[in-house]
Amino acid sequence: MKPAPPVTISRKASYPRPRMFITFEGLDGSGKSTQTELLAEAIRGMGREVVTTREPGGTALGEQVRALLLTGDGIAPWAEAALFAAARAELVELVIAPALERGAVVICDRYLDSSLAYQGGARGLGVEQVLQLNLPAISGRLPDRTFLLEIDPDESARRVGQNGDRIEREDGRFRRQVADAYRLLAETFPQRIEAVDGSRPAAEIAKEIFGRVRESL
Ligand code: ADP
Ligand code: TYD
Repeated sequence: MKPAPPVTISRKASYPRPRMFITFEGLDGSGKSTQTELLAEAIRGMGREVVTTREPGGTALGEQVRALLLTGDGIAPWAEAALFAAARAELVELVIAPALERGAVVICDRYLDSSLAYQGGARGLGVEQVLQLNLPAISGRLPDRTFLLEIDPDESARRVGQNGDRIEREDGRFRRQVADAYRLLAETFPQRIEAVDGSRPAAEIAKEIFGRVRESL
């Protein structure tokens, strides 16, 4: 029998650091922006480059689309879905893909699952149909990990208050439909989407999430 080849530490050390694309999802006011920043800070503390971005927005075109989407009156549901997909395509091409290519950790505040829950679920366009619209737009760039911050829809309304944007001003029924759609997505994609109880103090949530990603970095 041939002896086993020697284990070379130098070869192991030359492996590139794993690419990691993390997204935060949840109702408005669920703490996504807060957790994006806290996780970025913790991962930067490990010496990794972290790029944070948000949807809709994150690019010049994306910010214009954001203004179109979040102000004004009603937009036809498919126009709304297509505009979110357009902003997302630009964000992937200009920000997310290049950052992942150079080995950075990317954390995005909302991404594909927002469209699946809001447009696919709550607006009634169908999760599968909205997924089919988005897959070519993101060139197959699915997140590696998605944290779904779950809070009660009434708590979401309280945290957003009176100053919400066009979509945040939707009623309690809409919010519940979004929450239900998110829950279903978490059940459908348990490998990727992890539900987190968002009603606890922000620091406690951040500690739990960092604990869950640290080992994969
Ligand atoms: P999102 O990005 O999901 O809209 P934010 O992070 O902007 O949420 O938080 C919305 C509001 O809720 C802010 O006023 C923020 O200070 C507050 N908040 C964030 N996380 C928590 C938490 N865990 N508990 C209570 N309030 C929170
Ligand atoms: P945002 O301002 O990020 O909301 P918040 O930070 O308060 O959670 O998002 C604006 C709104 O856009 C929000 O109500 C969710 C909605 N949205 C969709 O309906 N579909 C999408 O694909 C995305 C990215 C956002």
